[in-house]
Amino acid sequence: MKLSNKVAIVTGAATGIGQAIAVAFAREGAAVAIDYVGKPGTADQTLEKIKNAGGRAIALTADISNPQQVGALIDQTVGRFGRLDIFVNNAGIEFKHPFLEFPIDQFQKIVMVNLQGPFLCAQAAARRMVQQGGGGRIINISSVHEDLPMPTNAPYCATKGALRMLTRTIAVELAPHKITVNNIGPGAIFTPIDADVEANPQMEAALMAEIPLGRWGKPEEVAGLAVFLASDDAAYITGATYFIDGGMLRQAGGL
Ligand code: BGC
Repeated sequence: MKLSNKVAIVTGAATGIGQAIAVAFAREGAAVAIDYVGKPGTADQTLEKIKNAGGRAIALTADISNPQQVGALIDQTVGRFGRLDIFVNNAGIEFKHPFLEFPIDQFQKIVMVNLQGPFLCAQAAARRMVQQGGGGRIINISSVHEDLPMPTNAPYCATKGALRMLTRTIAVELAPHKITVNNIGPGAIFTPIDADVEANPQMEAALMAEIPLGRWGKPEEVAGLAVFLASDDAAYITGATYFIDGGMLRQAGGL
């Protein structure tokens, strides 16, 4: 097992990519705190999957854009499992709307969840890791859209571009503490964030035409990459983005 004796927090782990990462980490021996927002019970499916796989997990609710709640998330995790080794900033939202009419309140909400959240979580996690000594791993779930423009999704793209530079900057700052910071940049992964496209055959066909491998990615495929980046095998990797997109970015002519 690649993550034995490690303790991880995964935000937005009730569904989608976060859920797959939490389950994969637990299978590799990590104790996992699943952060979710919403009604009690929202993360039950993830907990169930982890229990069935013989793993250890707790579900905690914290609004990642709120410093006090982020502090409590870390404290409760350390209180229960004794330490913190890996933090995955997975929670994210998008709202598609033409730029000319984009509502400011939606813009602000996206910035709070997709940018302020990862900033506060990385800071609180890194403070804990520095205090512990021995390094750590911060993994941000970004997007191909940290690089690739997507009309009608300007705030989302802007926050993902910002996440790229947050990662690069703090990777350099935290390197003396042996804390690595990396991004995963998924393309079209079959999760609830794309429910509108999944339910619309024309939109789905248009999206598939943008992907050389011609299919959706699976959350488990992203989770496999997260396990690698969280493991000792990735000790010399920091400040990087790993795209997992079926070739989407290459076909679009991105970096
Ligand atoms: C977005 C999806 C989009 C995908 C590929 C993701 O980051 O959340 O809405 O389909 O990128 O463009």
